[in-house]
Amino acid sequence: MLPIKLKSHIYWVGGIDWGLRNFHGYLTQRGSTYNAYLILDEKIALLDTVKYYLFDEMLERVSHVIDPAKIDYIISNHVEMDHSGGIVKLKEIAPKAAIITSPNGEKGLKAHYNKNWEFKVVKTGDTLKIGKRTLHFALTPMVHWPDNMVTYLPGDNILFSNDAFGQHLASSERFDDQYPINIIIEEAKKYYANIVLPYSKQVQKALADVSNFNIEMIAPSHGIIWREHLADIIGHYQKWSANQTDDKALIIYDTMWGSTEKIAVAIGRAFESEDIKITMLNLRHNHISDIMTEILTAKYVCVGSPTLNSNMLPTVAAFLTYLKGLAPQDRIGLAFGSYGWANRSVVQIDEILRGCGFNMLEKISVNYIPTETGLQEITSRIKGVIR
Ligand code: FEO
Repeated sequence: MLPIKLKSHIYWVGGIDWGLRNFHGYLTQRGSTYNAYLILDEKIALLDTVKYYLFDEMLERVSHVIDPAKIDYIISNHVEMDHSGGIVKLKEIAPKAAIITSPNGEKGLKAHYNKNWEFKVVKTGDTLKIGKRTLHFALTPMVHWPDNMVTYLPGDNILFSNDAFGQHLASSERFDDQYPINIIIEEAKKYYANIVLPYSKQVQKALADVSNFNIEMIAPSHGIIWREHLADIIGHYQKWSANQTDDKALIIYDTMWGSTEKIAVAIGRAFESEDIKITMLNLRHNHISDIMTEILTAKYVCVGSPTLNSNMLPTVAAFLTYLKGLAPQDRIGLAFGSYGWANRSVVQIDEILRGCGFNMLEKISVNYIPTETGLQEITSRIKGVIR
């Protein structure tokens, strides 16, 4: 378990979680990493730690460079336990290490670990001289928790961005010029859609706050480090945080006896005939976190369910709960589905999507089984309103 050099005296010493497949409900098919960084100067600083079960891996990497007992500062950019989970054990090894964190970081770390640690609390604009180098701090609350901050290292021009710009991606390669860039961007998009999306306004503020920094490298707390494709990922973050979408329609549904699926296909035909790309997403075969990745850049979000026991199907309800929490803005929505004797599901879906602030097209309900003529009418009607 070797460290990887970012620049002279700066090392990646994190842990690789090859087997991770679920991160609080988000499907992480490619695993993840928890990135910790070691900076050697007259004082030694460790930026963040790792999830508790990868502590020994982190320690082994640190030990290849220095005696971990000599760490002077633990910079905690974020309290969430995938980054703070190694602090308790590290403090046993390096008891004199001071913890540098934000005001909410101090509160959060005390609430998580209930330890009488020495804290040095920092705010935006504060600095910490560690020798020739000086660390600069900027608070980035709600990207992803209230405690988040980033650390900037001038001279080396590295932004340690914590959750921002991260990806759940386990890999031995550490840099964006060593791994297929399309996969890194895909995972960064999924990460944004499932973790960062509700905090897009705060992301825009954070992007403005760090725009004065001369950045040559962005070292996030998950996945690959950016040194070649900085403009690409910053451009994507600007687009995603501004809720800019593509002319694309998602048709997301579950079906009981096939009627709702027939309506879904009729709706899809309408978009295709207007040259709008579609993606059909049956909730039985697609995970909600993958659907959220699609929603991040889709203008139209159509959601369908038949009525079951006076409700929508549970798969659709679970998806809508997840969607509501992640709060995408400025989408055009459509509720559709079939029913037998109680037309409930479509009304419920319509209400929820309206509650999300979507601009809703007129909902579509069909009693039992749609006829061929009925399906053609649905296609014509949708074509009429999206033209
Ligand atoms: Fe990677 Fe919000 O923790």
